[in-house]
Amino acid sequence: MINYLLGWTEKQRGLEKISLSTFSTNLPAIKLYRKFGFKIEGRSRRQYKIHGKYVDEITMGKFLR
Ligand SMILES: CC(C)(COP(=O)(O)OP(=O)(O)OC[C@H]1O[C@@H](n2cnc3c(N)ncnc32)[C@H](O)[C@@H]1OP(=O)(O)O)[C@@H](O)C(=O)NCCC(=O)NCCS
Repeated sequence: MINYLLGWTEKQRGLEKISLSTFSTNLPAIKLYRKFGFKIEGRSRRQYKIHGKYVDEITMGKFLR
């Protein structure tokens, strides 16, 4: 799915950057996005509260050009 989306973005004229976010606890997702060239750009502390526990949000970005 990520390959498909990245392929689609490359065909879009004028698109310069893709951004996403994930839970800081989702290490497989962070690793997967890194493999596709996304870099961590920020952390919003205690952005979510899940089953009574705070979770940070990690924002990641990939420049297309
Ligand atoms: C995110 C997701 C697609 C990753 O799939 P995947 O690439 O097949 O995952 P893998 O099991 O191969 O793990 C990816 C990496 O994380 C590592 N990993 C797996 N479980 C881990 C854990 N609990 N803690 C730390 N690292 C972990 C793996 O070792 C692997 O690293 P490596 O390539 O250096 O060996 C899959 O975990 C998933 O479908 N999760 C549920 C949906 C989801 O979270 N989507 C993202 C929402 S932002």
